[in-house]
Amino acid sequence: MLLRVTFTAPIQMPGLVLDPRWYRRAVFYEVLVRSFSDSDGDGVGDLGGLIAKLDYLQWLGVDAIWVPPFYRSPMRDGGYDVADFRSVQPELGSIDDVRRLVSDAHARGMRIVLDLPLNHTSDQHEWFRQSRADPDGPYGDWYVWRDTDTGFPRTRIIFTDTEESNWAFDPVRRQFYFHRFFSHQPDLNYENPAVRAEILDTMRFWLDLGVDGLRLDAIPYLFESEEGNGEGEPPTHAFLREVRSMVDAEYPGRMLLAEANAWPQEVATYFGTAEAPEAHMAFDFPVMPRVFYAMRSQHAGELVKVLQEAHADVPDGAAWGAFLRNHDELSLEMVSEEYRHAMYGWYAYDPRMRANVGIRRRLAPLLDNDREEIELAHALLLSLAGSPFLYYGDEIGMGDNIWLPDRDASRTPMQWTPDRNAGFSSADPGKLVLPVVQSLVYHYQHVNVEAQLAQSRSLLRWIRGALHVRRQHPVFALGDLRVAPSDHESVLAYVREYAGSEQAFGDRPETVLCVFSFAHTPVSARISLDGLAGAAATDLFGGGRFPAVGDDGALEVTLGARGFYWLRLEPVPRVG
Ligand code: GLC
Ligand code: MG
Repeated sequence: MLLRVTFTAPIQMPGLVLDPRWYRRAVFYEVLVRSFSDSDGDGVGDLGGLIAKLDYLQWLGVDAIWVPPFYRSPMRDGGYDVADFRSVQPELGSIDDVRRLVSDAHARGMRIVLDLPLNHTSDQHEWFRQSRADPDGPYGDWYVWRDTDTGFPRTRIIFTDTEESNWAFDPVRRQFYFHRFFSHQPDLNYENPAVRAEILDTMRFWLDLGVDGLRLDAIPYLFESEEGNGEGEPPTHAFLREVRSMVDAEYPGRMLLAEANAWPQEVATYFGTAEAPEAHMAFDFPVMPRVFYAMRSQHAGELVKVLQEAHADVPDGAAWGAFLRNHDELSLEMVSEEYRHAMYGWYAYDPRMRANVGIRRRLAPLLDNDREEIELAHALLLSLAGSPFLYYGDEIGMGDNIWLPDRDASRTPMQWTPDRNAGFSSADPGKLVLPVVQSLVYHYQHVNVEAQLAQSRSLLRWIRGALHVRRQHPVFALGDLRVAPSDHESVLAYVREYAGSEQAFGDRPETVLCVFSFAHTPVSARISLDGLAGAAATDLFGGGRFPAVGDDGALEVTLGARGFYWLRLEPVPRVG
């Protein structure tokens, strides 16, 4: 039997058309269409299935859905190997289904963000077929062709598990082509103005259909050079500025999200500057691995550092996209060797758990299915500067399947019910796009949406509650973040502060102190709160009164193992 639950009244959403900077107040949710819900019983999730689950997402408190590629594709890289940017892979649906997804989401106050892998195509794309067959033809120069495989010597290999070079020999054209990812994914030649124009038109095609934003996949890698490392080269930023000007001029209110997995100091460059903006949002790759590091090292220091350094001054209107997990491996490319080794030891003790330079596991298994730790991770995710991104299934603590190849380990079907195929599909179980998780700890018979709806203190209900609390306090979306010194190495504290300037939204000034303990046993810590001496403190979840900040501007807190607080601080009005 498929899920039949009536959802209670949805949490109120901000107006859909009113806020051109909607993405700053949004909670995002990533849905792999083929693994979410199968509406036609062929064993593959589809757009119809996603549309049917919009009520669930609205009930959960999601404002925007990030939809990874559903374009026509041989599916050798989960659809990031596109064979036609303007059509939908038949088992996933049709262009009309995309239209319906957009309008049905909008009717519920939710937005749709599509994913555009614009750095490369599949080798099955018509452009590539023509390019290899006819070097002098109209597509001859659409990819990066050379007579040797020695160009761009400083570009690193990303898919280290499968690739030995960024060049592959094409027996048809008898030349080498450049590829940053799989060898079946040739890189487009961005030096060619026709390529750039076509990609801009592809964006227009989907924006004309009404989508609210575009995730710019693998954005650092568009241009390469002999001297550079092919990541964030100046012409790549110049093109990004061109994309932004196009969107600002032709589609105001739509959002561009940069997937730039780069070193902490570099990620913010994808926002551009106030005068020359680039993406509206960028994934917070600097913070993500450091959250996991803190959990096991029981040290907050690295997070403090990255929050103080990488987060310094982003241009007005720009927003970080905070996340814990997504459809890719938990990347350890941008941490030091020492940290990488420590992380592998803690989180990927079985070599099967690794993929490329990272870890291919889901959130709950990473955190040992420990409820306290999962709550702590979400308390961080939902209170960091920027907008949070959830990954489907993590709200119910879904497990993974490390026996599946590559990143499919954490892309298995959503677990809706304890029934056949976890309520994901009515197909013969052998026909499913990927098998449902049946492991001892994460079996769909007990880890599923229906069971968690039936349990008032389930993870699902806790996360929904936390999203609700976050929504009531725009300080989380819009406030500044200032790290507050703590005298305990395991305790991270920051103050979120918002002047309430957007009064049209009913915003009021607010100050919130967030405190997190990564220690595995109870601790007490002294937090220095400059300028907040005497402020009254109240817990945001239950309204409980806490001791006020001392006259010396310090607050003494005790925290249980992996404990946290979100405390509203009411500064004492200044006299005189
Ligand atoms: C991005 C995607 C990843 C894909 C890669 C190559 O990093 O997130 O899933 O494999 O691009 O397209
Ligand atoms: Mg289907």
